[in-house]
Amino acid sequence: MSDLVAVIIPAGGSGERLGARIPKALVQIAGKTLIEHAVANMAPIANQIIVAAPAAYEEQFRKLLGTDVLVVTGGLTRTLSVKKALAYVDKENDYILVHDAARALASTELAMRVIDSLRAGEKAVIPGLAVTDTIKRIDKDNYVTRTFPRSQLRAIQTPQGFRRKILIRAHDSRDDVTDDAGLVEDRGVDVKVILGEERALKITTMQDLETAQRILLPEVNNQIRVGIGTDAHAFSNDPLREMWLGGLFWPGENGADGHSDGDVAAHAICDALFIAAGIGDLGSNFGISDLAYAGASGSQLLSECFQKVTAAGYLINNVSVQIVGNRPKIAPRRAEIITALSKSLGGATVSVSATTTDGLGFTGAGLGISAIATALLLRSAR
Ligand code: CTP
Ligand code: MG
Repeated sequence: MSDLVAVIIPAGGSGERLGARIPKALVQIAGKTLIEHAVANMAPIANQIIVAAPAAYEEQFRKLLGTDVLVVTGGLTRTLSVKKALAYVDKENDYILVHDAARALASTELAMRVIDSLRAGEKAVIPGLAVTDTIKRIDKDNYVTRTFPRSQLRAIQTPQGFRRKILIRAHDSRDDVTDDAGLVEDRGVDVKVILGEERALKITTMQDLETAQRILLPEVNNQIRVGIGTDAHAFSNDPLREMWLGGLFWPGENGADGHSDGDVAAHAICDALFIAAGIGDLGSNFGISDLAYAGASGSQLLSECFQKVTAAGYLINNVSVQIVGNRPKIAPRRAEIITALSKSLGGATVSVSATTTDGLGFTGAGLGISAIATALLLRSAR
């Protein structure tokens, strides 16, 4: 038995209640449009995805969603948008999920539970949550005509799943409904409600958009890692010792002692990166006494560090380093340093500052140089 799933995503609305100047499905949260979130969440379970876009926005949708997604022109109402998309569903699909772009955060797991229930024999399956408000029916003059027992009520979400033919038949009707299950119920088909999820909320108002952002935020936070690193070296007594700092050679400057080239900026950044990724530090990765690194340049260490951090599954968001010392003067070569450091870090965003310490401490006394660095890493998508 094949049991393939087509997903229809009505996204043809204008989003009047949200009040953005663009269609709601193109509004972004956490750097991605609602329609991209919705498609990404449904893609893992879908054999075919059909998106109904607002008229005149089809090309923009196609560019965003790529060639795996079929973009068709939506209709004047949600029901009509779904109907138009239905015409493109391949017959090889046994099930159809209809899912509002406005419920962009509904999870793949929810879609999987809907499908499981269909596979277990249900004809129509919809997610729902218990309601917290008491719901009353009113007449046109706002008088209550009925109060429903809350325990029997559910607030219904999408994705709503159906056997393909059942949904197609139901859409023969001319009725305009706010959800597809409504049409199916009218035909006397049993519709099963399964447990929905908070994150499948329908983004309708600005407040909903903020709620959705708050739901995504902890996920982003879990993937951010910060690290700090410092390093210091004394200026050498050897007049021939070369000065290397920030990946650059500094002619005429007194070099710093150290088992490598003494580049405090590069070393501090390496430590910040290793610590942020949770993969040890400069010493544990390169070994203080490791002969292989005895003459290693700062750029070389940074490149290797970058590769290790990348292999551990992190992207560099940005790196900052502050160089502390009387000499050399950083400002005239700041741009050069940034370019050199960034190059060793795969093009990462780097910023560099410098300071003296008002004559205080070993840097103030001109005995040496130090640096402090921070790094922000993002767990890369796997
Ligand atoms: N929808 C659609 N075609 C329409 C109207 C709505 O495909 N003619 C889609 C919307 O894009 C949305 C879903 O149906 O994904 C639910 O509709 P709703 O949340 O009401 O979105 P909008 O109609 O865009 O918003 P509003 O009612 O505030 O204008
Ligand atoms: Mg609407």
